[in-house]
Amino acid sequence: MLLDPFCGCGTTLVEGKLAGLKTVGVEANPFACFASKVKTNWDVDAEELLDDSRAIAQKTLRQLKRQGIDDSGLFQEVPDESKLLTLPEQKLKMLLSNSISPLPLHKSLVLLENIKNMGSKGLQEHELLAFANSLVFTVSNLHFGPEVGLGAVKSDAPVVSSWLSEIEKMVRDLRSVSERDYPDSRTVLADSREIGLHIPPSSVDAIITSPPYPNEKDYTRTTRLESVLLGFIEDKTGLRSLKSSLLRSNTRNVYKGDDDDKWVSEHKEIQRISHAIEKRRIELNKNSGFEKLYGKVTKLYFGGMTRHFADLRKILKPNAKLAYVVGDQASYLRVMIRTGQLLAEIGEALGYEVMGLDLFRTRFASATREQLREEVLLLKWPGEKVKGNGKGAKRV
Ligand SMILES: C[S@@+](CC[C@H](N)C(=O)[O-])C[C@H]1O[C@@H](n2cnc3c(N)ncnc32)[C@H](O)[C@@H]1O
Repeated sequence: MLLDPFCGCGTTLVEGKLAGLKTVGVEANPFACFASKVKTNWDVDAEELLDDSRAIAQKTLRQLKRQGIDDSGLFQEVPDESKLLTLPEQKLKMLLSNSISPLPLHKSLVLLENIKNMGSKGLQEHELLAFANSLVFTVSNLHFGPEVGLGAVKSDAPVVSSWLSEIEKMVRDLRSVSERDYPDSRTVLADSREIGLHIPPSSVDAIITSPPYPNEKDYTRTTRLESVLLGFIEDKTGLRSLKSSLLRSNTRNVYKGDDDDKWVSEHKEIQRISHAIEKRRIELNKNSGFEKLYGKVTKLYFGGMTRHFADLRKILKPNAKLAYVVGDQASYLRVMIRTGQLLAEIGEALGYEVMGLDLFRTRFASATREQLREEVLLLKWPGEKVKGNGKGAKRV
Protein backbone atom coordinates (compact mmCIF):
# COMPACT_ATOMS: atom_id res chain seq x y z
CA MET A 1 0.00 0.00 0.00
CA LEU A 2 1.52 3.27 -1.18
CA LEU A 3 0.33 6.46 0.51
CA ASP A 4 0.64 10.08 -0.58
CA PRO A 5 -0.46 12.13 2.46
CA PHE A 6 -0.35 15.46 0.55
CA CYS A 7 -1.56 14.06 -2.74
CA GLY A 8 -2.75 17.23 -4.49
CA CYS A 9 -4.39 16.22 -7.77
CA GLY A 10 -3.12 12.65 -7.47
CA THR A 11 -0.02 12.35 -9.67
CA THR A 12 1.68 9.88 -7.29
CA LEU A 13 -1.48 7.78 -7.08
CA VAL A 14 -1.86 7.61 -10.85
CA GLU A 15 1.77 6.54 -11.27
CA GLY A 16 1.48 4.05 -8.40
CA LYS A 17 -1.66 2.54 -9.90
CA LEU A 18 -0.01 2.27 -13.32
CA ALA A 19 2.86 0.43 -11.61
CA GLY A 20 0.36 -2.07 -10.15
CA LEU A 21 0.34 -0.79 -6.57
CA LYS A 22 -2.60 -0.26 -4.23
CA THR A 23 -2.63 3.43 -3.45
CA VAL A 24 -4.28 5.85 -1.06
CA GLY A 25 -4.09 9.64 -1.00
CA VAL A 26 -4.94 12.23 1.61
CA GLU A 27 -5.65 15.80 0.60
CA ALA A 28 -7.25 18.66 2.51
CA ASN A 29 -8.22 20.87 -0.43
CA PRO A 30 -11.64 19.61 -1.66
CA PHE A 31 -11.06 20.51 -5.31
CA ALA A 32 -7.65 18.79 -5.42
CA CYS A 33 -9.17 15.80 -3.61
CA PHE A 34 -11.97 15.63 -6.20
CA ALA A 35 -9.43 15.84 -9.05
CA SER A 36 -7.40 13.04 -7.51
CA LYS A 37 -10.47 10.83 -7.08
CA VAL A 38 -11.50 11.33 -10.69
CA LYS A 39 -7.99 10.85 -12.08
CA THR A 40 -7.68 7.51 -10.31
CA ASN A 41 -11.14 6.27 -11.32
CA TRP A 42 -10.59 4.30 -14.52
CA ASP A 43 -13.86 2.36 -14.30
CA VAL A 44 -15.40 4.55 -16.95
CA ASP A 45 -16.28 3.55 -20.48
CA ALA A 46 -14.25 5.90 -22.70
CA GLU A 47 -16.70 5.69 -25.64
CA GLU A 48 -19.69 6.44 -23.40
CA LEU A 49 -17.86 9.43 -21.97
CA LEU A 50 -17.23 10.74 -25.46
CA ASP A 51 -20.86 10.27 -26.63
CA ASP A 52 -22.29 11.78 -23.46
CA SER A 53 -20.01 14.80 -23.71
CA ARG A 54 -20.72 15.37 -27.39
CA ALA A 55 -24.45 15.48 -26.65
CA ILE A 56 -23.84 18.04 -23.90
CA ALA A 57 -21.62 20.09 -26.22
CA GLN A 58 -24.24 20.14 -28.99
CA LYS A 59 -26.99 21.23 -26.65
CA THR A 60 -24.78 24.01 -25.23
CA LEU A 61 -23.83 25.30 -28.67
CA ARG A 62 -27.50 25.35 -29.76
CA GLN A 63 -28.48 27.18 -26.61
CA LEU A 64 -25.74 29.78 -27.04
CA LYS A 65 -26.67 30.24 -30.68
CA ARG A 66 -30.25 31.03 -29.69
CA GLN A 67 -28.80 33.74 -27.46
CA GLY A 68 -26.86 35.14 -30.45
CA ILE A 69 -23.56 33.86 -29.08
CA ASP A 70 -21.02 32.10 -31.26
CA ASP A 71 -18.53 29.99 -29.30
CA SER A 72 -15.57 30.12 -31.66
CA GLY A 73 -14.01 32.87 -29.56
CA LEU A 74 -13.27 34.89 -32.69
CA PHE A 75 -14.55 38.24 -33.95
CA GLN A 76 -17.47 38.26 -31.61
CA GLU A 77 -19.25 41.36 -30.49
CA VAL A 78 -19.57 41.18 -26.75
CA PRO A 79 -23.32 41.05 -26.04
CA ASP A 80 -25.09 43.28 -23.56
CA GLU A 81 -23.41 42.33 -20.27
CA SER A 82 -26.62 42.70 -18.30
CA LYS A 83 -28.03 39.68 -20.18
CA LEU A 84 -25.11 37.40 -19.28
CA LEU A 85 -25.11 34.87 -16.47
CA THR A 86 -22.69 35.61 -13.69
CA LEU A 87 -21.81 34.48 -10.15
CA PRO A 88 -23.33 35.82 -6.95
CA GLU A 89 -21.41 38.77 -5.50
CA GLN A 90 -19.98 36.78 -2.54
CA LYS A 91 -18.47 34.23 -4.95
CA LEU A 92 -17.09 36.87 -7.31
CA LYS A 93 -15.35 38.51 -4.36
CA MET A 94 -13.36 35.35 -3.68
CA LEU A 95 -11.84 35.31 -7.18
CA LEU A 96 -8.72 37.17 -8.25
CA SER A 97 -10.14 40.19 -10.08
CA ASN A 98 -10.44 39.64 -13.81
CA SER A 99 -9.81 35.89 -13.40
CA ILE A 100 -12.37 35.35 -16.12
CA SER A 101 -14.07 37.82 -18.49
CA PRO A 102 -17.89 38.17 -18.53
CA LEU A 103 -18.62 36.42 -21.85
CA PRO A 104 -16.44 33.32 -21.22
CA LEU A 105 -17.93 33.17 -17.74
CA HIS A 106 -21.47 33.22 -19.16
CA LYS A 107 -20.68 30.45 -21.65
CA SER A 108 -18.96 28.41 -18.94
CA LEU A 109 -21.98 28.69 -16.66
CA VAL A 110 -24.29 27.52 -19.47
CA LEU A 111 -22.01 24.53 -20.12
CA LEU A 112 -21.69 23.75 -16.42
CA GLU A 113 -25.47 23.71 -15.98
CA ASN A 114 -25.80 21.29 -18.88
CA ILE A 115 -23.12 18.98 -17.48
CA LYS A 116 -24.95 18.97 -14.16
CA ASN A 117 -28.36 18.34 -15.77
CA MET A 118 -27.43 15.98 -18.59
CA GLY A 119 -24.18 14.30 -17.51
CA SER A 120 -24.81 10.58 -17.03
CA LYS A 121 -24.20 8.97 -13.67
CA GLY A 122 -20.66 7.62 -13.52
CA LEU A 123 -19.45 10.05 -16.20
CA GLN A 124 -20.38 13.41 -14.75
CA GLU A 125 -17.38 13.72 -12.44
CA HIS A 126 -15.00 13.22 -15.34
CA GLU A 127 -16.93 15.82 -17.31
CA LEU A 128 -16.68 18.26 -14.42
CA LEU A 129 -12.93 17.73 -14.04
CA ALA A 130 -12.44 18.32 -17.77
CA PHE A 131 -14.53 21.48 -17.35
CA ALA A 132 -12.27 22.68 -14.51
CA ASN A 133 -9.15 22.07 -16.57
CA SER A 134 -10.30 23.88 -19.69
CA LEU A 135 -11.74 26.67 -17.55
CA VAL A 136 -8.43 27.36 -15.85
CA PHE A 137 -5.98 26.76 -18.66
CA THR A 138 -7.86 28.00 -21.74
CA VAL A 139 -10.98 29.96 -20.87
CA SER A 140 -9.82 32.08 -17.91
CA ASN A 141 -7.30 34.92 -17.85
CA LEU A 142 -5.13 33.14 -15.29
CA HIS A 143 -1.47 32.50 -15.83
CA PHE A 144 0.74 30.08 -13.89
CA GLY A 145 4.37 30.84 -13.68
CA PRO A 146 4.51 28.91 -11.29
CA GLU A 147 2.45 31.15 -8.95
CA VAL A 148 -1.03 31.97 -10.13
CA GLY A 149 -1.46 35.48 -11.53
CA LEU A 150 -3.22 37.33 -14.30
CA GLY A 151 -2.18 36.86 -17.93
CA ALA A 152 -3.64 38.70 -20.91
CA VAL A 153 -7.26 39.63 -20.23
CA LYS A 154 -9.23 38.26 -23.18
CA SER A 155 -12.79 39.31 -23.86
CA ASP A 156 -13.71 35.92 -25.33
CA ALA A 157 -12.45 32.34 -25.52
CA PRO A 158 -13.86 29.13 -27.00
CA VAL A 159 -15.52 27.26 -24.13
CA VAL A 160 -17.24 24.21 -25.58
CA SER A 161 -14.47 23.12 -27.96
CA SER A 162 -11.80 23.56 -25.24
CA TRP A 163 -13.87 21.39 -22.92
CA LEU A 164 -14.32 18.72 -25.60
CA SER A 165 -10.60 18.65 -26.26
CA GLU A 166 -10.00 18.00 -22.53
CA ILE A 167 -12.59 15.22 -22.73
CA GLU A 168 -10.78 13.76 -25.75
CA LYS A 169 -7.50 13.69 -23.78
CA MET A 170 -9.26 11.82 -20.97
CA VAL A 171 -10.82 9.43 -23.46
CA ARG A 172 -7.38 8.63 -24.90
CA ASP A 173 -6.00 7.99 -21.41
CA LEU A 174 -8.97 5.83 -20.44
CA ARG A 175 -8.66 3.78 -23.62
CA SER A 176 -4.98 3.18 -22.85
CA VAL A 177 -5.83 1.58 -19.49
CA SER A 178 -8.94 -0.32 -20.58
CA GLU A 179 -7.19 -3.58 -21.44
CA ARG A 180 -5.88 -4.47 -18.00
CA ASP A 181 -7.10 -4.53 -14.39
CA TYR A 182 -5.39 -2.12 -12.03
CA PRO A 183 -5.42 -2.13 -8.22
CA ASP A 184 -7.80 0.14 -6.34
CA SER A 185 -6.95 3.66 -5.39
CA ARG A 186 -8.80 5.95 -3.04
CA THR A 187 -8.41 9.55 -1.96
CA VAL A 188 -9.57 10.84 1.40
CA LEU A 189 -10.47 14.46 2.14
CA ALA A 190 -8.64 15.01 5.42
CA ASP A 191 -5.92 16.82 7.30
CA SER A 192 -2.69 14.82 7.30
CA ARG A 193 -1.75 16.20 10.69
CA GLU A 194 -4.40 13.80 12.03
CA ILE A 195 -3.95 11.06 9.48
CA GLY A 196 -4.40 8.27 12.05
CA LEU A 197 -8.14 9.07 12.14
CA HIS A 198 -8.55 8.28 8.45
CA ILE A 199 -6.24 5.43 7.46
CA PRO A 200 -6.31 1.97 9.12
CA PRO A 201 -3.55 1.20 11.64
CA SER A 202 -0.36 -0.51 10.38
CA SER A 203 -1.57 -0.56 6.79
CA VAL A 204 0.96 1.46 4.82
CA ASP A 205 4.13 0.04 3.25
CA ALA A 206 5.51 3.17 1.63
CA ILE A 207 5.03 6.90 1.22
CA ILE A 208 5.98 9.10 -1.69
CA THR A 209 4.94 12.70 -1.31
CA SER A 210 5.62 16.34 -1.93
CA PRO A 211 4.30 18.27 1.09
CA PRO A 212 4.01 22.07 1.19
CA TYR A 213 7.21 23.99 2.10
CA PRO A 214 7.37 27.17 4.16
CA ASN A 215 7.33 29.35 1.04
CA GLU A 216 4.29 31.64 1.15
CA LYS A 217 2.47 29.59 -1.49
CA ASP A 218 -1.30 29.71 -0.96
CA TYR A 219 -2.68 26.44 -2.31
CA THR A 220 -6.26 27.70 -2.09
CA ARG A 221 -5.42 30.55 -4.50
CA THR A 222 -4.05 28.21 -7.17
CA THR A 223 -7.36 26.34 -7.29
CA ARG A 224 -9.73 29.22 -6.44
CA LEU A 225 -11.56 29.72 -9.74
CA GLU A 226 -12.52 26.08 -10.26
CA SER A 227 -13.24 25.60 -6.54
CA VAL A 228 -15.73 28.47 -6.62
CA LEU A 229 -17.39 27.55 -9.92
CA LEU A 230 -17.79 23.90 -9.00
CA GLY A 231 -19.14 24.82 -5.57
CA PHE A 232 -16.30 23.48 -3.42
CA ILE A 233 -16.04 26.87 -1.74
CA GLU A 234 -19.32 28.73 -1.22
CA ASP A 235 -18.25 31.75 0.83
CA LYS A 236 -15.60 33.32 3.05
CA THR A 237 -16.44 30.99 5.95
CA GLY A 238 -15.92 27.96 3.72
CA LEU A 239 -12.61 29.36 2.49
CA ARG A 240 -11.47 29.95 6.03
CA SER A 241 -12.35 26.46 7.18
CA LEU A 242 -10.49 25.02 4.19
CA LYS A 243 -7.43 27.14 4.97
CA SER A 244 -7.42 26.04 8.58
CA SER A 245 -7.30 22.38 7.56
CA LEU A 246 -4.00 23.00 5.73
CA LEU A 247 -0.47 23.02 7.05
CA ARG A 248 0.54 26.55 7.89
CA SER A 249 2.98 27.16 5.04
CA ASN A 250 2.05 30.77 4.28
CA THR A 251 1.01 33.77 6.33
CA ARG A 252 -2.41 33.98 4.65
CA ASN A 253 -3.58 30.93 6.52
CA VAL A 254 -2.41 31.80 10.01
CA TYR A 255 -5.23 32.26 12.51
CA LYS A 256 -5.60 33.33 16.11
CA GLY A 257 -5.28 30.30 18.35
CA ASP A 258 -2.98 28.38 15.96
CA ASP A 259 -0.64 26.43 18.18
CA ASP A 260 1.18 23.84 16.08
CA ASP A 261 4.33 25.78 17.04
CA LYS A 262 4.24 24.21 20.50
CA TRP A 263 5.42 20.96 18.89
CA VAL A 264 8.78 22.57 18.07
CA SER A 265 9.21 24.75 21.16
CA GLU A 266 12.27 22.65 22.15
CA HIS A 267 13.82 22.58 18.69
CA LYS A 268 16.78 24.96 18.94
CA GLU A 269 17.45 25.47 15.23
CA ILE A 270 13.81 26.19 14.38
CA GLN A 271 13.58 28.65 17.26
CA ARG A 272 16.82 30.29 16.07
CA ILE A 273 15.51 30.65 12.50
CA SER A 274 12.23 32.12 13.70
CA HIS A 275 14.08 34.68 15.87
CA ALA A 276 16.48 35.51 13.03
CA ILE A 277 13.53 36.24 10.72
CA GLU A 278 11.86 38.46 13.31
CA LYS A 279 15.14 40.28 14.04
CA ARG A 280 15.68 40.99 10.35
CA ARG A 281 12.11 42.17 9.97
CA ILE A 282 12.62 44.73 12.71
CA GLU A 283 15.99 45.83 11.25
CA LEU A 284 14.42 46.29 7.81
CA ASN A 285 11.41 48.06 9.29
CA LYS A 286 8.96 45.70 7.58
CA ASN A 287 5.71 46.15 9.40
CA SER A 288 2.85 44.70 7.40
CA GLY A 289 0.57 42.23 9.17
CA PHE A 290 1.89 39.43 6.97
CA GLU A 291 5.57 40.28 7.53
CA LYS A 292 4.99 40.25 11.26
CA LEU A 293 3.88 36.61 10.92
CA TYR A 294 6.94 35.31 9.02
CA GLY A 295 8.71 34.09 12.17
CA LYS A 296 5.55 32.52 13.59
CA VAL A 297 4.51 30.72 10.40
CA THR A 298 7.93 29.07 10.16
CA LYS A 299 7.40 27.51 13.59
CA LEU A 300 3.78 26.62 12.77
CA TYR A 301 4.91 24.87 9.58
CA PHE A 302 7.50 22.66 11.28
CA GLY A 303 5.13 22.08 14.21
CA GLY A 304 2.46 20.90 11.74
CA MET A 305 4.91 18.57 10.02
CA THR A 306 5.93 17.22 13.45
CA ARG A 307 2.27 16.44 14.21
CA HIS A 308 2.02 14.72 10.85
CA PHE A 309 5.12 12.56 11.37
CA ALA A 310 4.02 11.71 14.92
CA ASP A 311 0.49 10.63 13.93
CA LEU A 312 1.75 8.81 10.84
CA ARG A 313 3.53 6.22 13.01
CA LYS A 314 0.14 4.62 13.82
CA ILE A 315 -0.62 3.72 10.23
CA LEU A 316 2.82 2.58 9.04
CA LYS A 317 3.84 -1.06 8.91
CA PRO A 318 7.22 -1.82 10.52
CA ASN A 319 9.99 -1.14 7.99
CA ALA A 320 7.79 1.17 5.93
CA LYS A 321 9.85 3.52 3.75
CA LEU A 322 9.07 7.17 3.25
CA ALA A 323 10.17 9.67 0.57
CA TYR A 324 9.43 13.38 1.08
CA VAL A 325 10.35 15.82 -1.68
CA VAL A 326 11.09 19.15 0.00
CA GLY A 327 12.94 22.33 -0.85
CA ASP A 328 15.16 24.73 1.09
CA GLN A 329 13.60 28.15 1.32
CA ALA A 330 14.67 31.75 1.80
CA SER A 331 11.30 33.42 1.19
CA TYR A 332 11.20 35.03 4.63
CA LEU A 333 13.52 38.04 4.40
CA ARG A 334 16.24 35.82 2.94
CA VAL A 335 16.79 33.81 6.10
CA MET A 336 17.79 30.34 4.94
CA ILE A 337 15.52 27.48 5.98
CA ARG A 338 17.01 24.05 5.36
CA THR A 339 13.67 22.27 5.14
CA GLY A 340 14.98 18.76 4.36
CA GLN A 341 17.63 18.87 7.07
CA LEU A 342 15.15 20.09 9.69
CA LEU A 343 12.53 17.51 8.77
CA ALA A 344 15.21 14.80 8.98
CA GLU A 345 15.98 15.89 12.55
CA ILE A 346 12.30 15.96 13.46
CA GLY A 347 11.79 12.49 12.00
CA GLU A 348 14.78 11.10 13.85
CA ALA A 349 13.56 12.50 17.17
CA LEU A 350 10.23 10.70 16.59
CA GLY A 351 11.92 7.32 16.10
CA TYR A 352 12.34 7.21 12.31
CA GLU A 353 15.66 6.20 10.78
CA VAL A 354 17.06 8.69 8.29
CA MET A 355 18.14 6.72 5.23
CA GLY A 356 19.20 9.66 3.13
CA LEU A 357 18.73 13.23 2.05
CA ASP A 358 19.27 13.06 -1.68
CA LEU A 359 19.75 16.08 -3.86
CA PHE A 360 16.94 16.10 -6.43
CA ARG A 361 17.73 19.43 -8.13
CA THR A 362 18.75 22.97 -7.32
CA ARG A 363 16.84 26.18 -8.01
CA PHE A 364 18.45 29.58 -8.30
CA ALA A 365 16.96 32.05 -5.81
CA SER A 366 17.34 35.56 -7.22
CA ALA A 367 16.77 37.19 -3.80
CA THR A 368 19.77 35.50 -2.18
CA ARG A 369 21.70 34.73 -5.41
CA GLU A 370 22.11 31.23 -4.03
CA GLN A 371 21.24 27.79 -5.29
CA LEU A 372 18.47 26.35 -3.14
CA ARG A 373 18.44 22.59 -2.75
CA GLU A 374 15.40 20.51 -3.50
CA GLU A 375 15.87 17.16 -1.81
CA VAL A 376 14.25 13.83 -1.21
CA LEU A 377 14.22 12.98 2.47
CA LEU A 378 14.25 9.19 2.87
CA LEU A 379 13.04 7.78 6.17
CA LYS A 380 12.34 4.32 7.48
CA TRP A 381 9.87 3.50 10.24
CA PRO A 382 11.42 0.63 12.22
CA GLY A 383 8.26 -0.08 14.23
CA GLU A 384 7.23 0.96 17.73
CA LYS A 385 9.68 -0.05 20.46
CA VAL A 386 8.05 -2.17 23.16
CA LYS A 387 9.42 -3.17 26.52
CA GLY A 388 11.66 -6.23 26.50
CA ASN A 389 10.18 -9.62 27.48
CA GLY A 390 13.40 -11.07 28.83
CA LYS A 391 14.87 -11.46 25.36
CA GLY A 392 15.50 -7.75 24.87
CA ALA A 393 13.40 -5.00 23.39
CA LYS A 394 11.41 -5.73 20.25
CA ARG A 395 9.79 -3.54 17.68
CA VAL A 396 6.25 -4.01 16.46
C1 LIG B 1 3.10 20.32 -3.22
S1 LIG B 1 1.39 20.00 -3.23
C2 LIG B 1 1.31 18.33 -3.79
C3 LIG B 1 1.24 18.23 -5.28
C4 LIG B 1 0.99 16.81 -5.77
N1 LIG B 1 2.20 16.03 -5.71
C5 LIG B 1 0.41 16.81 -7.19
O1 LIG B 1 1.02 16.23 -8.07
O2 LIG B 1 -0.65 17.40 -7.41
C6 LIG B 1 0.98 19.90 -1.54
C7 LIG B 1 -0.48 19.58 -1.27
O3 LIG B 1 -0.66 19.43 0.14
C8 LIG B 1 -1.98 19.83 0.46
N2 LIG B 1 -2.05 20.06 1.91
C9 LIG B 1 -1.59 21.10 2.63
N3 LIG B 1 -1.81 20.90 3.94
C10 LIG B 1 -2.42 19.69 4.06
C11 LIG B 1 -2.86 18.93 5.17
N4 LIG B 1 -2.74 19.38 6.41
N5 LIG B 1 -3.39 17.72 4.93
C12 LIG B 1 -3.53 17.23 3.67
N6 LIG B 1 -3.13 17.92 2.58
C13 LIG B 1 -2.58 19.14 2.77
C14 LIG B 1 -2.17 21.08 -0.39
O4 LIG B 1 -3.54 21.37 -0.58
C15 LIG B 1 -1.46 20.67 -1.70
O5 LIG B 1 -2.37 20.12 -2.61
